[in-house]
Amino acid sequence: MTSQDFEVVDLDDANSALVLIDQTKLPNVTEFLHLTSQESIWEAIYKLQVRGAPAIGVAAGFGSYLAAKEIAQTETTFDGFYEKWKAAKAYLNSSRPTAVNLSWALQRMEDTLLANKSLSIPELVHCLKEESLAIKNEDAQTNRAIGEYGLSLLQPGMGILTHCNAGWLATTRYGTATAPIYLGHEKGYQFRVYCDETRPLLQGARLTAWELQRAGIDTTLLCDNMAPTVMRNGWIDAIFVGCDRVAANGDVANKIGTSYVALAAKHYDIPFYVCAPTSTIDLETPTGKEIPIEQRKPEEVTTTWYKEPMAPADVKVFNPAFDVTDAALVSAIITEKGIIEKPTKEKMADLLKN
Ligand code: MRU
Repeated sequence: MTSQDFEVVDLDDANSALVLIDQTKLPNVTEFLHLTSQESIWEAIYKLQVRGAPAIGVAAGFGSYLAAKEIAQTETTFDGFYEKWKAAKAYLNSSRPTAVNLSWALQRMEDTLLANKSLSIPELVHCLKEESLAIKNEDAQTNRAIGEYGLSLLQPGMGILTHCNAGWLATTRYGTATAPIYLGHEKGYQFRVYCDETRPLLQGARLTAWELQRAGIDTTLLCDNMAPTVMRNGWIDAIFVGCDRVAANGDVANKIGTSYVALAAKHYDIPFYVCAPTSTIDLETPTGKEIPIEQRKPEEVTTTWYKEPMAPADVKVFNPAFDVTDAALVSAIITEKGIIEKPTKEKMADLLKN
């Protein structure tokens, strides 16, 4: 099996189900979930069975289409249908706060609904299905474009560090931070990739190392606190990470630990690239300070991956899922529309105008 032979997120319309590879079980078990209730879809996003900003957006698009399909069985007027659908949208939107792709996808679905309000309810449901499929299909094209721009910054044989999983599993194809790596690999570039394990939920170890290794890419796993050592050793030529939200001034929120990598990269003068589809850019959020940061359960730090608790019972735990890296530490943001070097408010706004 290569990285490309399964769908991370899919719609099984005949059975009114959202189909996901359960990312909490990887790398040991490959299991697909078929989710039909809104509660199970909400929970899959919250529990990280599907995760990564673009994949969450695609899952929410399908989830809100499935909600529409169900509501259409009892509601025959637009107003009744819209009211119930809006409640379903708000519910899905509450599953995770940081990745803006979730609300972006749901907003796209609502815009479609409102633009077609004169249609019959079955026709409206059909429009929502088409929109949810478009969100998914566009994601693959977007990531390929990010990959091509990213690859233009690399040379064969380079050492690349990445944090968390902004890979195939976080999207529908290619990943964002991994897209330049996959495209370079297709061309025989022989990259050496270093994956931070990414405490506390180990997305780097469980997911990135898994998907890169099975694609035949030279992959080395390291604990998060080893990243400065490999930089100091001269093994890293570039850092590529993904992103959950880019604020209007170019500050970026990504998996906790990213800012630590960016700070070390600055010290060792290694370019720090953030790969982000434009759907991750949020001009409504002025700076990183206003990005909502998800706080997660203490058990993820103390017990989740251990046979026995690895901390004293009831110790206070700080467990933010994301951190903010200041725009000043970002060498460039790589989007499907181009590369924004040394991001600023003006450059971000200009990019989105085109
Ligand atoms: O908590 P997660 O696993 O959803 O966090 C994922 C990340 O931080 C990714 O880097 C980000 O969503 C970009 S995915 C292309």
